[in-house]
Amino acid sequence: MENQGRNPPKRLVLIPGPFQGHLTPMLQLATILKSKDFSITIAHTQFNSPDFSAHPDLTFLCIPDGLSEQEVQSPDVVAIVLRLNDNCESSFRECLTRGTNHMEPGDKICCIIYDPLVYFSGAVACDLKIPSIALYTNSAAYIAVRPILLQLKAQGHILVPDTMLQVPVPLHQPLRFKDLPIYSYGSLDSFLEGLALTLNIRPSSAIIFNTIHCLEESPLARVHHQYHVPIFPIGPLHKFAPTSAVSLLQEDTGCIPWLDKQTHNSVIYVSLGSVAHMNQDQLSEMAWGLANSKEPFLWVIRSGSNPGAEWIEAMDENFKECVKDRGCIVKWAPQKEVLAHDAVGGFWSHCGWNSTLESICEGVPMICQPCFGDQKVNARYLTHEWRVGLELEGEIERGTVERAVRTLMKEKEGEEMRQRVFDLKHKFDVSTGDGGSSCHYLSELVELLRSF
Ligand code: UDX
Repeated sequence: MENQGRNPPKRLVLIPGPFQGHLTPMLQLATILKSKDFSITIAHTQFNSPDFSAHPDLTFLCIPDGLSEQEVQSPDVVAIVLRLNDNCESSFRECLTRGTNHMEPGDKICCIIYDPLVYFSGAVACDLKIPSIALYTNSAAYIAVRPILLQLKAQGHILVPDTMLQVPVPLHQPLRFKDLPIYSYGSLDSFLEGLALTLNIRPSSAIIFNTIHCLEESPLARVHHQYHVPIFPIGPLHKFAPTSAVSLLQEDTGCIPWLDKQTHNSVIYVSLGSVAHMNQDQLSEMAWGLANSKEPFLWVIRSGSNPGAEWIEAMDENFKECVKDRGCIVKWAPQKEVLAHDAVGGFWSHCGWNSTLESICEGVPMICQPCFGDQKVNARYLTHEWRVGLELEGEIERGTVERAVRTLMKEKEGEEMRQRVFDLKHKFDVSTGDGGSSCHYLSELVELLRSF
């Protein structure tokens, strides 16, 4: 403890976006700031609320979100986000002004740190004249390129015209127009409405990124140019908060003994994150591509991620017979532990930002199959800028999958990617070590927070 009890710790209120990929980095940030002697309140929605028993040293404040059972079950994530923001603004303001079990009215909050997905919290901070800082849980490249979507809309385009798909986005190399981060679950209009609202929010004091300066130097400079506030790239946050328990789903650790039986770098780990859905045909093509590759695989299929089935009951019996012990399928894995395992030599991923960082941190090259939104931007950077991933474009088809898995796991091209990702991992280690850029930005952030 750095304060040694001289002054009462300053109180920060942190508001995560209520999805795994957003909750994880915010809870990690909370753990880090707690270790710097701040008092932390996590204000969260009822929807996807975090497990507070795993964080006895943090205080939790539940914001009534007014979502119906039907809305909570909806796969339309954009609609949920818009509704939450509409519903929560007044209840959050009330929590802060009237007090709660954990906070007296008038308790001084020195700063609100919020995920811009829950932009209502930025608006409340602004109304109450509390300094606010945004934590972007995505890549800086994604944040920097988003305004292009609104420019296209202003030019009358609902979707990117076919003739422009392969055209490079000016000033945003290596992105093409087809890599723009459209969100495909739900209506495009709602997505653009939400995006416009998010872009409207100006954090009063600073922006935190879960990224590394050396990885995203030019996108970070572009974001700085857009917002004109200090930027703190302090990632990868999980390196600074390795023990923070963050999973919304129960991890199946049974896959670790299975990995223990496999040889060095032999296993391809497959996970498409916490939101993406797959239909039965797509699952079947993935399954047969993996089976035909003859490589061992560990595959996460979330319960309910195939809307037509509870889990894998509908999977072809011939597939199960064909792969036998060469494959292990779980509903949710301890991903960081899996990626760090000696047996894992490749990651077939949707390229969510957390998965991207976690894979690079463990020096694991990737097969990139973005499903929507920012994942398309991340995938393009992985394959064409950092060159540590293989692109899997278009409809999933078993032959393409089989070739991609073999290339990554067995061929020279895969070996070269493994070498490059290993070099990148080394740069990450330097950035997060003493005197590295992430450590430096973290110290500056702590200093700024203490100054409020
Ligand atoms: C969502 C968006 O899809 C993503 O593009 C955005 O960057 C963040 O929000 P998500 O699908 O959750 O992300 O992907 P990702 O960002 O990779 O986060 C998933 C997290 O779940 C990772 O931290 C990963 O370690 C964890 N995970 C995933 C597990 O712990 N077990 C699993 O089986 C799968």
